[in-house]
Amino acid sequence: MPTVTFVQSTGESIEVAVAEGTSLMRAAVTNGIDGIVGECGGQAMCATCHVFVRPEYAGALPPVSDDEDEMLDCTTSERTEASRLGCQVKVSAELPSIVVDVPADQV
Ligand code: FES
Repeated sequence: MPTVTFVQSTGESIEVAVAEGTSLMRAAVTNGIDGIVGECGGQAMCATCHVFVRPEYAGALPPVSDDEDEMLDCTTSERTEASRLGCQVKVSAELPSIVVDVPADQV
């Protein structure tokens, strides 16, 4: 089963196992990860699922869509090159594990 590791701004690291096809946002919300809200339910309309993908995993991800790109300009913590919307990134057989940093502020 794929795993997602969420690293909080405090340095705390939490690894969760999720089914293929699960978004990072859903993985966080269903496992009670602090700092990922997912207010819009995954519609790329709230930016409360902002995460920073570690560079070693970024190349395996599909590119940022226009809608995601627009919403990433609305994140509470400053957007960086590593920024993605957690609801738009899904774990898969091609990406069996991923490590992301959770922003210090989400809303
Ligand atoms: S959950 Fe709203 S943009 Fe991702």
